[in-house]
Formats: sequence, structure tokens, C-alpha cells
Amino acid sequence: MPVIKSRSRQVNAIAGGSMDGSADLGVLFGCHSGVCGKCATTVLSGLKNLSEPTEEEAAMGLDPDRRLMCQCRINKGTVKLDLA
Ligand code: FES
Repeated sequence: MPVIKSRSRQVNAIAGGSMDGSADLGVLFGCHSGVCGKCATTVLSGLKNLSEPTEEEAAMGLDPDRRLMCQCRINKGTVKLDLA
């Protein structure tokens, strides 16, 4: 089962599922549509375990290690986010 982690906590996720569980770790969501940028979060490790960036993420011009939590999906393994 994939896992989403912060520095101090973790939540289980579903393979191929959303990163909505990251809200429990402190990610703030706004539009849920890849527009507002509120959910942009730095991925400390496990970037390869996420889906490819969406058009919305590409359009936002994020650094390669930052992803929109409302857009990416977790496929497998552990993804550690830059959260307390
Ligand atoms: S919640 Fe708005 S871009 Fe993710």
C-alpha cells in the first residue's frame, strides 16, 4: 500500500489514487483543479512514485521537485513531502 509521509507523520494511500490524504499532513487545498497553486508541495523523496505532471502542473512552471497535490496521483511506494 502506498504511503504519503511528512517529517513526523504518515497516511496510507491507494495505488493509483489521489494525494488527498496529504491534507491530513498539512497540505492546504483550494481549487482542486490545478489552478490556484495552493497545494503545491515539495517532494523530498519518492518523486518517481507519482504520476507524470499534468498539463496544469506544467503550465504553472513549478520546480521539478514541486507537485500539485490535487493533480498528481501516487502509484506505489512512499512519497515524502516537505511538511512538518
Ligand atoms: S488546490 Fe488549487 S492547484 Fe491544487
